Amino acid sequence: MKYGYFDDIQREYVITSPKTPQPWINYLGCEDFFSLISNTGGGYSFYKDAKLLRLTRYRYNNVPRDSNGHYYYIKENDSIWNPGWMPSKTPLDFYECHHGMGYSVIKGTKNQLASELTAFVPMGSACEINKLTLTNESNVSKNFSIFSYVEFCLWNAMDDMTNFQRNFSTGEVEVHGCAIYHKTEYRERRNHYAVYAVNSSIDGFDTDQDSFLGSYGENSAPEVVVSGQSKNSIASGWRPIGSHHLKVSLAPGESKTYVFVLGYVENAVEDKWVGNAEDGIINRAPAETLLAKFDTTEKVNQAFTDLKEYWNQLLSHFTISSSEEKLDRMVNIWHQYQCMVTFNMSRSASYYESGIGRGMGFRDSCQDLLGFVHLIPDRARERILDIASTQFEDGSAYHQYQPLTKKGNSDIGSGFNDDPLWLIAGTAAYIKETGDYSILDEQTPYDSDPLKATDLMEHLRRSFHYTMEHIGPHGLPLIGRADWNDCLNLNCFSTEPGESFQTFGPSEGPNAESIFIAGMFVKYGKDYVEICKHRGLVEEAKLAQKAISDMKKTVLDTGWDGEWYLRAYDHYQNKIGSKECVDGKIFIEPQGFCVMAEIGLEEGYCLKSLESVEKYLDTKYGIVLLQPPYHRYHVELGEISSYPPGYKENAGIFCHNNPWISIAETVVGRGNRAWEVYTRTCPAYIEDISEIHRTEPYVYSQMIAGKDAPNFGEAKNSWLTGTSAWTFLNVSQYILGIRPDYDGLIIDPCIPNTMDGFKAKRDFRGVTYHITVENPSHVEKGIKSVTVDGTLVESNIIPVAKDKSEVNVTVVMG
Ligand code: BGC
Repeated sequence: MKYGYFDDIQREYVITSPKTPQPWINYLGCEDFFSLISNTGGGYSFYKDAKLLRLTRYRYNNVPRDSNGHYYYIKENDSIWNPGWMPSKTPLDFYECHHGMGYSVIKGTKNQLASELTAFVPMGSACEINKLTLTNESNVSKNFSIFSYVEFCLWNAMDDMTNFQRNFSTGEVEVHGCAIYHKTEYRERRNHYAVYAVNSSIDGFDTDQDSFLGSYGENSAPEVVVSGQSKNSIASGWRPIGSHHLKVSLAPGESKTYVFVLGYVENAVEDKWVGNAEDGIINRAPAETLLAKFDTTEKVNQAFTDLKEYWNQLLSHFTISSSEEKLDRMVNIWHQYQCMVTFNMSRSASYYESGIGRGMGFRDSCQDLLGFVHLIPDRARERILDIASTQFEDGSAYHQYQPLTKKGNSDIGSGFNDDPLWLIAGTAAYIKETGDYSILDEQTPYDSDPLKATDLMEHLRRSFHYTMEHIGPHGLPLIGRADWNDCLNLNCFSTEPGESFQTFGPSEGPNAESIFIAGMFVKYGKDYVEICKHRGLVEEAKLAQKAISDMKKTVLDTGWDGEWYLRAYDHYQNKIGSKECVDGKIFIEPQGFCVMAEIGLEEGYCLKSLESVEKYLDTKYGIVLLQPPYHRYHVELGEISSYPPGYKENAGIFCHNNPWISIAETVVGRGNRAWEVYTRTCPAYIEDISEIHRTEPYVYSQMIAGKDAPNFGEAKNSWLTGTSAWTFLNVSQYILGIRPDYDGLIIDPCIPNTMDGFKAKRDFRGVTYHITVENPSHVEKGIKSVTVDGTLVESNIIPVAKDKSEVNVTVVMG
């Protein structure tokens, strides 16, 4: 069952019922100002940092769910409704929500009064625009009121939710004409405020929530809206809000458009310790400049066109055309769109990530890079240096950092032993894409301390050596607190039930080892060797190469279980992910990474491992993370066994590592199977089961409940997942096989043998490659001939053209 449809021309998903199984959201903003917006108008806004600079409030675990947003109430006689149905839930005669690239359009009609709300964040300005058009579709005149409504957050979203003894006395606003200023904190050396304005004279306003909703009132029917008259309340403490009242008359067929702007303003502060707010009165000049940019419909339409042009440009760097409509849709639009959202958000703000819990992840952001580096290489460069700056001098790293300060988060700290290697992965992807080795010369701090800086190359060296120097009893990398699988906590114990975890002290270990990290070490170690060679670091390259060869051997000697790669050894040297185990006999992660690293490829280990994945982990909705699930809690394994069977890391279909298997299948040349794995979790291919899948059918979710869960097939945690980067990497670089490499663009497709071929356009280092892949013999992998601008060439690594801006490449498979 579907709740809408894809419109590929407009690059939109069009939702046709407000009652989607979950709120289906979109993201507005590409630079510093961001909003989340659901299909019913729920959501919130923040500037740069969802925790520290939150403009509007969102209540978690809200009832009814998703009942905070930027809302517009229409009151016509006794009828009160919202264009997006929520929060009044008045049934609409017509409803549609179009989620597009950085914008959403919500259309609602009631009693022949049509509303169209276009929400977006314009390029270059820190604000969200809500363009609201009302059209009288009847043949009689209509008189009605519009009430806008946002609920301000007192900036620090965590404090806002917890520190009421203070916060109920700090709220302050100013109202000037049609502009409502939320200036809480302004007098306290802070230099920021929010403005919420409309480009029209108003018939009233409210800024105090109790006045607007009424005592014990609620969003669904605010007292002011029911009575039809604003109270012109001025908030003093308590809960400041912004609401405008507009009285509107429309002749039959007539339309009127209003532009509401919610903006963030930061004044320069001359003396930080004195502040700039004399008597707490704000400096409105910058807000007025901002509002003047969007005070007519024409200006707003232009800003909307500019935004669309930005996305046209961005999505033009990699496009394909094939006989598979859904493949084209995902590659050309939604994969790349989701990659950009994960670039902006990392794992911070979604309907599953509160924006107050996590900042940017070291591991997560390095992986996200793999998906967007071809779109915004300059910003990827900056991101790599930001991430590397949170590394410690010994090569380990803060697991997370806060986007506003770009400093490591000491609450979480370090100790995740895969983290350092991801820096090599991200940097290698950047160099392969851009050919820009100068990034390695950038002076980059450790622990955000410029006095401790070295060049980035040295950071990579320390990353690689960190793994080399943290080796356990079997010669495998020590796992530390966890590796990619945050929940496999093998070095933790608690002596009493309910007691919090401790880690083993240095004298007793921690000893647990990870075969996953071993796979990573070999895979990204090869990149490290290449980079060293390029820098002329011959000895270091040799040393690294030897360490990699030794690690390969160690994995085959101690990390192979007969039919698949083991997952780990726990602190007590017990095997994890072995046929000897009762539960958790086989895990997906080492199968993906050890095959991608080609450990034992010639000897047949890789194929065997993938056959085992198919045999033991496959389901109709994707590949589960492990089997059998852990049925009881294991203190020696940690969080993984805290989940009921089939959820999250305990045998859920963790979408993130499905593409590892698909890529691994291309390594052994099985295009049919790579394709099958890709399509099973791919949003466009499972749109028809939206009632089972339940999350947005246009983006990936982190997890789909596995076969051991009661809700098999139900997804959770949509949007912010490493799945987006990895699936784009998989389909673009391994299935379609268009893969940037140090010395050129490799073309090496591995596709289902039913496919005749495809065409692609790929911008690479300033040159546009027009690529045609033909598959006349219907093979899954293999190349018969490569022609570059009409000349047959020997290799499928197409060097960067020096003197041309366009190159035509034809690859015949066979
Ligand atoms: C985290 C990742 C982690 C994954 C598996 C996600 O929630 O963001 O960093 O690799 O879970 O545990």
